[in-house]
Amino acid sequence: MEKLLRNSFMFLSRNKMMTKLAKKYGLHFGAARFVAGNTIDAAKNVIKQLNHKGLDVTLDYLGEFIIDEYEAEETANHCIKAIEIIGNERLNSQVSIKLTSMGLDISEDVVLSNMRRILAKSKKHGVFITIDMEDYSRCEKTLKIFKQLRSEYDNVGTVLQAYLYRTVDDVEDLGTYQANLRLVKGAYKESADVAFPDKKDVDMNFKKIIKMHLLNGHYTAIATHDDQIIEYTKQIVNKYRIPKTQFEFQMLYGIRPEKQLDIVNEGYKMRVYVPYGTDWYGYFMRRMAERPANVAFVIKGMIKR
Ligand code: FDA
Repeated sequence: MEKLLRNSFMFLSRNKMMTKLAKKYGLHFGAARFVAGNTIDAAKNVIKQLNHKGLDVTLDYLGEFIIDEYEAEETANHCIKAIEIIGNERLNSQVSIKLTSMGLDISEDVVLSNMRRILAKSKKHGVFITIDMEDYSRCEKTLKIFKQLRSEYDNVGTVLQAYLYRTVDDVEDLGTYQANLRLVKGAYKESADVAFPDKKDVDMNFKKIIKMHLLNGHYTAIATHDDQIIEYTKQIVNKYRIPKTQFEFQMLYGIRPEKQLDIVNEGYKMRVYVPYGTDWYGYFMRRMAERPANVAFVIKGMIKR
């Protein structure tokens, strides 16, 4: 039953008609639990509240799978505006970006040109940028763009997904770029040809890559809500005396907020991924797929409207 629900949400997450309607009619169905609001002003208030509690932030202007060059440029402009606000108001926030929102599906030239504008501005304001990882079909292209940008800028990192068979090799390879990596389990529906189908194998691979990247001496963001992975990381950093300046934990806005504070109170760095904007539908559906128990929020949202 849970698998059926998960697959249904993954299918719905790619529905173009629902994405359009969601943009038009604003945050519904309990999405406000996971999305900071439609505007940068709403997001700014959320960042300030989180910063006040000792939580760092990475801000995400929602958008993905853009195939119009003008729209990709506009999305880049939104990110630049957010970076200026973060810099000018001295907010404790980085920025996360999906390359399909910058034109990855249009051409390499378009995505590089938008990302260079963003990285130049963010370097000026001291804002670090993380390139999110999307589905497997875009993994190779994303890593190619990351490597190019990393050779030009030092304020850019990316994400690797523990569910992919290729990831151990990618961790090794990106080590040569001194990459600042966010490690995650992986949020897209992938075939068993490219990704571990069993959760226990994903968890095992997750632990393996966390240890690898930390012991290779590179900055590691462990992005998970899973207690078992968090405990494992704490053991590794204690055992190998990894300094607190070399790693951080990350979680998504609206998920396990009390645990986020517990981790800060234990003296670790915790960064919260805060999405905002009108293109919330795909992001929200992936969160539903991760935890069908969240459907209760959807039903409540529908009743309340
Ligand atoms: P898992 O899914 O096993 O969950 C462990 C426990 O956490 C659950 O039992 C539950 O208690 C809680 N939990 C997890 N998800 C929840 C939810 N939606 N609602 C409520 N509780 C929940 N993926 C990707 O493919 N590319 C990317 O770039 C990113 N970026 C990213 C950034 C950050 C900061 C985070 C935290 C995550 C991502 N992800 C991602 C998503 C990631 O791949 C993964 O899908 C989710 O983090 C869920 O996996 P967990 O590691 O939390 O474990």
